[in-house]
Amino acid sequence: MSVTNFRYVASLGLCLLATSAFAETPGGIQDSFAQAARASSPTFSGFSTSRGERLFQSTHGGEWSCASCHTRDPRDVGAHAKTGKTIKALAPGANPQRFTSSSKVEKWFKRNCNDVLGRECTAQEKGDVLTYLMSLGK
Ligand code: HEC
Repeated sequence: MSVTNFRYVASLGLCLLATSAFAETPGGIQDSFAQAARASSPTFSGFSTSRGERLFQSTHGGEWSCASCHTRDPRDVGAHAKTGKTIKALAPGANPQRFTSSSKVEKWFKRNCNDVLGRECTAQEKGDVLTYLMSLGK
């Protein structure tokens, strides 16, 4: 490989690295949920704000809904249903730090879906909830 080619390939690699490590946004995370949902269901037809809202606001056979800790208006500051600890607003319009790290997002979806639904959420469900949260604005 020539030096020029090597430089080109190396800088391309750095760009890709930078994209995955630093440029995470709610929209980018939503795209990756869409890719995963499409991969697991050929009939995937996009996300739904109202389905996401229903999942978020309802209980699913247990004691808690997502709103139990994140409040019925996810633009508001919440409180942990058990410990009472403050939880910053979940909607990205109200809290720009939200949905900027997919590892954080995956970790908490996993834990919170298990607490509320008794199982992990599907990519479709995660995308629906994120679409609902993104629709809320400030
Ligand atoms: C028992 C309390 C509790 C319940 C119920 C709960 N959460 Fe959470 N959630 C938390 C806490 C605590 C954190 C982490 C602290 C923080 O980020 O402020 C968190 C963080 C998150 C995050 C991380 C977002 C980010 O980018 O920082 C997402 C996504 C999330 N919750 C979604 C949900 C969804 C969806 C439900 C319902 C299925 C739900 N949560 C139910 C307590 C809860």
